[in-house]
Amino acid sequence: MTKDRKLIIAGNWKMNKTVAEAVDLVTTLKRDLADVKEVDMVVCPPFTALCEVSKIILDSNIRLGAQNMNEHPNGAHTGEISAQMLKEFSVRYVILGHSERRADQGETDELIARKAQAAHAAALKPIVCIGETLEQREANETEAVLETQLRGSLAGLTAEQMTETILAYEPVWAIGTGRTATPEQAQEAHRFIRSVLAQMFDDTVARRVRIQYGGSVKPDNARDLMSQPDVDGALVGGASLEARSFTAIIRNSI
Ligand code: 13P
Repeated sequence: MTKDRKLIIAGNWKMNKTVAEAVDLVTTLKRDLADVKEVDMVVCPPFTALCEVSKIILDSNIRLGAQNMNEHPNGAHTGEISAQMLKEFSVRYVILGHSERRADQGETDELIARKAQAAHAAALKPIVCIGETLEQREANETEAVLETQLRGSLAGLTAEQMTETILAYEPVWAIGTGRTATPEQAQEAHRFIRSVLAQMFDDTVARRVRIQYGGSVKPDNARDLMSQPDVDGALVGGASLEARSFTAIIRNSI
């Protein structure tokens, strides 16, 4: 592949896996993916499994991500987890603003921007999620929605921080539905996202930022999606819960 951005493929395990199941899965991944150098590989277990998973992948080519964090450094925020707490487990990445959290917890672009700033302050790389609903796509609002989310969720980041931020384009209608965006639809959205980054920052930043596609990525569609010029990886939900399918997605993307 001739892209100058290294692919980054992350598994978002969502609210799945006990500690024992997480240990099983990551042990198999570590063994089966030990030779992979071409792709940055990340697993994002639930908070409860971070500690054990972290120990297993310490000496491997797999990196650790979390699925959320609080925007404050500490304090009276019952039930929340700070960036510093994540760092205790060698977490490097944190998913922010997933559409499930935007819907279930009412997360706004403004909150996501504060979380992204807090992540960078702690030297964690945010994976900022954006994407339109089916209703918005059918009303031809996709680009307007993406632009609003980008300008809102990335507000206040410096060019340097932006370069260290991963974006995940996840059309809401493709998540967990088995209905993937076509490679052309993904490419069109990713190219648009890059054009907005060029306006918000500059061409160099736009060229460097890695943009993942997420939404029903499977072993049999990974190759076509990853070969699009502006698609730089994947954020995988369901298919990241089994070693065989996550491994196949990575192998098929190289
Ligand atoms: P699925 O791969 O299960 O569609 O989930 C995608 C996703 O939401 C990843 O964050």
